[in-house]
Amino acid sequence: MSDKKTSNQMWGGRFASGPAAIMEAINASISFDRKLYAQDIRGSIAHSEMLAQTGIVSAADQEKIAHGLNTILKEIEAGTFEFSTRLEDIHMNIEARLADLIGPAAGRLHTARSRNDQVAVDLRLWVKDECFRVAEALKGLIEALLARADEHAATVMPGFTHMQAAQPVTFGHHCMAYVEMFARDLSRVRDAIERMDESPLGAAALAGTSFPIDRHATAKALGFREPTRNSLDSVSDRDFALEFLAVAAICATHLSRLAEEIIIWSTPQFGFIRLSDSFSTGSSIMPQKKNPDAAELVRGKTGRVTGHLVGLLTVMKGMPLTYGKDMQEDKESVFDAAETLDLMLAAMTGMVSDMTVNAAAMKKAAGSGHATATDLADWLVRTLGLPFREAHHVTGRAVALAEEKKVGLEKLSLEDLQAINPGITADIFSVLAVQNSVKSRTSFGGTAPSEVRRQIRSWKRRIAKA
Ligand code: ARG
Repeated sequence: MSDKKTSNQMWGGRFASGPAAIMEAINASISFDRKLYAQDIRGSIAHSEMLAQTGIVSAADQEKIAHGLNTILKEIEAGTFEFSTRLEDIHMNIEARLADLIGPAAGRLHTARSRNDQVAVDLRLWVKDECFRVAEALKGLIEALLARADEHAATVMPGFTHMQAAQPVTFGHHCMAYVEMFARDLSRVRDAIERMDESPLGAAALAGTSFPIDRHATAKALGFREPTRNSLDSVSDRDFALEFLAVAAICATHLSRLAEEIIIWSTPQFGFIRLSDSFSTGSSIMPQKKNPDAAELVRGKTGRVTGHLVGLLTVMKGMPLTYGKDMQEDKESVFDAAETLDLMLAAMTGMVSDMTVNAAAMKKAAGSGHATATDLADWLVRTLGLPFREAHHVTGRAVALAEEKKVGLEKLSLEDLQAINPGITADIFSVLAVQNSVKSRTSFGGTAPSEVRRQIRSWKRRIAKA
């Protein structure tokens, strides 16, 4: 048995100096919440200005405070600031340094404030900035997709259900499906910004304060629309973080679906696209390989982002009002999800812009698997007046015959088709070609190049204004 005096033998383990060291290690957040330094300083300057305006602190003290905080900002950005775990978190690290720099006036900054409203306002400012970054990145990705859709509005490819070729569509139409998804993400992130645009600063520990503070002034100074209305809710609410994570998880899911398609399309078996060298890697042992690593990592990182949403939901679900130290667990989820999503969006935008589309391979695949069977059935309904169910049956027989002869539906002879239904005329071949099939789907939102181009134009206008 060791004879360590200060550390408990049963649970002291690697903590040399006993319970205090364990407490410090579990309690400290400075290793990650230092990321909030700029928001913390912004919040403190706004708070101090309001304290001076309302006569709670003197103008002279406020000047010292603001000057000291600006010095600290420079020290942190220059990398000369010494963060200390003993001082627990970013708020106390900054306040302690302020006291070193300006003496007793530093102690006036925390009047009418608590770390509870302070951390709530810091994290909101950070998340709000991140939401604006995500919105910009989404616009970039949407624009990249619109450009590819424009180029390929008439490039025929198979459309799939159950991963089986179902009906021909165009690659532009397929790209536009992702434009719809990412545009919904964009609108979700904008909605989230709207709701988080309230300042909790001045809620103090939980009950508000007896000092004559002006919460509208600090809200305005920090760029919030208005102050939050309930002090208890203000310090205990993390919906803004949850909403960001939810937006991030949904967006990551969309990115992952596209990544999965990119992976499939770039296999030699499909050969629909080629990723640029910048977004793929070679194999160290198999010289013929070109691996879609960036796409695989986008798909893989989705698990992390979704995990962070579930993680924070789980932290929050047991929280009685108001603040509890559990809530310190909000930050790493948010920071990691943000960093991950930013990277995923950038990688996807790069892949979409740089990939080479193999229109010939897409067209060939579009014509296989009797992809125009539905067009044949529709022709029978339209031209011969057959009920759709009967037309479906007749088409089934044509498909079976084509299978038997090992040819595509469009390669059956007129005699073959007439043997199945004598009313069929040569006109039927006009709908059996994939290009014509696609061209005919002009219903609103359909795959006809004319309709796809109309959608592209309308999204270009909307995104330019978004
Ligand atoms: N580091 C803390 C956090 O991130 C700051 C708030 C501390 N408040 C308190 N009452 N101990 O949540």
